[in-house]
Amino acid sequence: MSLSIEPTESALGAVVKGVDMGRVPDPDIIESIETALEQYGVLIFPGQDITPAQQTAFSAALAPLEMTANIDARLDGQPEIFVVGNTGAKPVTFAPKFGNDDLEWHTDHIHRPEPARASLLYAKEIPAEGGDTLFACMYSAYDDLAAEQKAQYGSLTAIHSVAGLRNYLREQSEEEDYDPGRQADMPESVSWPLVRHHPRTGRPALYFGAKVTIGIEGWAEETGLAFIRDLSSHATRPEFVYRHVWRHHDAVLWDNRRVLHAATPFDMTRNKRLMHRTTLRETEPVH
Ligand code: SIN
Repeated sequence: MSLSIEPTESALGAVVKGVDMGRVPDPDIIESIETALEQYGVLIFPGQDITPAQQTAFSAALAPLEMTANIDARLDGQPEIFVVGNTGAKPVTFAPKFGNDDLEWHTDHIHRPEPARASLLYAKEIPAEGGDTLFACMYSAYDDLAAEQKAQYGSLTAIHSVAGLRNYLREQSEEEDYDPGRQADMPESVSWPLVRHHPRTGRPALYFGAKVTIGIEGWAEETGLAFIRDLSSHATRPEFVYRHVWRHHDAVLWDNRRVLHAATPFDMTRNKRLMHRTTLRETEPVH
């Protein structure tokens, strides 16, 4: 069956039909997905009725997989699946508290030595209201900078740490000990150029996260944090954003080299949200 690809009206995103994620994709399908991902940054595959093993096999055909450092959030029997939601003993979410709009914009695993190249999120249970995911295009955010900002930002190196994420999640959670997890062999922080050139397209993109990025090399801490706050406001302006309102059994694949994403809150006292994420490891150097 041939693929149909319909772009959204936003800066990012296309709806892809004709792919059955229950089967391991052949090289032609993989190439079509790669090309579409390169073009649209976010691909939406509606109506996928897949098991954790099928999601894992499909994802692993695209790239080697990376597991979450939060060991409690690995799915029993299929540890490549990161369980995001509030159906288990402890909620796992990257959204702010209900009623708060301080979003945790990020690109997956930027704080790890091998960041994530892409991620696939699959909706198993969705709230009646809220719990959308926003995606922001970092090509557009970069292109919109003034020439002197492009020159300055191109010379900066940003510092990323799970500590930034941990502090944010603790502020947003009812649970004092909430911890996103850090593997013993993971450094406390990693540094990458603030402007990253996409390995497939060569296009420059801003590469950072609103909370996980904790500074700029060579700058005072407060100056760096203020800069990241301003940069986050710029980079996530509505014209750069696609909002995904989930439907049951949607699967969404995004390009972490080009896209920031953020979960929006929902009322956890009234709703359940259960998502399964597989995370594709970066295979190219960030520099
Ligand atoms: C994530 O940040 O990977 C999950 C996003 C979401 O829960 O919508």
